Amino acid sequence: MRIKIIHGPNLNLLGVREPEVYGRFMLDDVNARLFEEAKNLNVEITANQSNSEGEIVNILHESMNREHGIVINAGALTHYSISIRDAISAITLPCVEVHLSNIHARETFRHKSVIASVCLGQISGFSVNSYVLGLRAIVDHLREVPRE
Ligand code: DQA
Repeated sequence: MRIKIIHGPNLNLLGVREPEVYGRFMLDDVNARLFEEAKNLNVEITANQSNSEGEIVNILHESMNREHGIVINAGALTHYSISIRDAISAITLPCVEVHLSNIHARETFRHKSVIASVCLGQISGFSVNSYVLGLRAIVDHLREVPRE
């Protein structure tokens, strides 16, 4: 089973960017934690980060025939990118939306996610664990592990 992890704009600056909101760990630390979890789950993951909306659309398209599922933190694009929303919808791969911070407890412009309706679900506010839980959720979904 292959899962694509996508990190959107500004997530390359983790560790430096607003550490009181996003923490002091770096993107490499997030990916290292995900690779460890992927090994435990016995799945393959690849991770990409991009600051460009079009590039993220391309990564989603390229995932179509290569991957089984997507975990995406679209960063600020979450709140307004209809092209990312449409790409997720177009590729018909199951997708989990994740956020480090709790977007619902922050500024009102962050409360809305335009990608939420085309994702299986959203995990928000658990720092690095949001990604880990997102990975577990997509793997359980693909393995059809029943949920209570
Ligand atoms: C974020 C939340 C977004 O509102 C913000 O623009 C980000 C990061 C998060 O992971 O908490 O870049 O997606």
